[in-house]
Amino acid sequence: MTVQQRIDPYIIKAEPRPERYARGWYVIGNAASVSTTPRMLAVFGTKLVAYRGERDGEVHILDAYCPHMGGDLSQGKVCGNSVVCPFHLWSWGADGVCDDIPYAKKIPDKAVIKSWPTLEKNGLVFVWQDPENNPPIPEQEPEAMADWYSGNWTDWEMRAIPIASQGRELVDNMADMAHFGPIHYSTVKSFSNTMAGHKFVQYMVGGHQILTEGEGGLITSVATYEGPAYMTTTMTGSMDGHPMQVHLLVSHIPVDMHNFVINFGVMIRKDPNLSEAENQAMLDEYTALNIESFHQDVAIWNNKCIIDNPLMCDGDGPIHMVRKWYSQFMTNVADIRPDQVKAREHVTVEGPSVADVLASQQ
Ligand code: FES
Ligand SMILES: [Fe+2]
Repeated sequence: MTVQQRIDPYIIKAEPRPERYARGWYVIGNAASVSTTPRMLAVFGTKLVAYRGERDGEVHILDAYCPHMGGDLSQGKVCGNSVVCPFHLWSWGADGVCDDIPYAKKIPDKAVIKSWPTLEKNGLVFVWQDPENNPPIPEQEPEAMADWYSGNWTDWEMRAIPIASQGRELVDNMADMAHFGPIHYSTVKSFSNTMAGHKFVQYMVGGHQILTEGEGGLITSVATYEGPAYMTTTMTGSMDGHPMQVHLLVSHIPVDMHNFVINFGVMIRKDPNLSEAENQAMLDEYTALNIESFHQDVAIWNNKCIIDNPLMCDGDGPIHMVRKWYSQFMTNVADIRPDQVKAREHVTVEGPSVADVLASQQ
């Protein structure tokens, strides 16, 4: 005998998405990932080419498909600050304007391709995506990371991890307090979020499977999104009894509407009592453990569905708040509403603050 259900089963909703990518800066890799050999980028549902000018040493990103007959510039060569198509050797300048056709008397006026705004900062290379094609918004430029420039930290150890999902589902993680226990075997002592303008922050104090709680100490973690896709986390704790300070990079870039790649990075503060090789070994060990932990999230993202109406309970973090914040980047600038960007705070688990724990560890 079956028991009559009193309430209808919950219906998961997922509206078809507009063919649109969130406006903002996206990491394509570390500085070393772009050289004077053209690099193909399969991003934003198309193909781009990234290269360094031989003369200016700057990173340039252009649409990869040559409008002459569709050749792929990422298979071509860099010459000066231009990239030359392998098919009939049309040459494209860093500004996207064709500057040479070896066999033509006149370059056609229409011979212009899209040149994408780029930024090199914190040892990383960024590309600006804007469906409205406006120049980058100055206030949204990622902040300089003093630690990367200090010489007291290692460089980024980078990995690229493909995932079959959408950016919003990844960004949910910022507010998702309840997944830390089951996915990361972490204990959460305090958990809160703030949002303001293009930034969203997660503050957490707790225990962690890799950075174990030291002598009476606690793990602190501050994760900050600057724009829709560039997130850095600062963590303190200890590994094998060794005090650690760590920055993580969790940046993603869409391949198309259903897939993205996470450009994952790790850098640690060097221990001055250890040799370069020993510090590198510590970075390698920590990175390996971290990638393992991160793949627990990845397995979830690869298999979950898109859900527009998540069924929340009272202990959950502010998923709706992070989604409201994220929606600003999917909205034309002129249509952004105050509630998408206004300063707000949400405390999910009351407890010791990151600032207090850091002060007590001094
Ligand atoms: S297709 Fe690029 S030069 Fe002809
Ligand atoms: Fe996670």
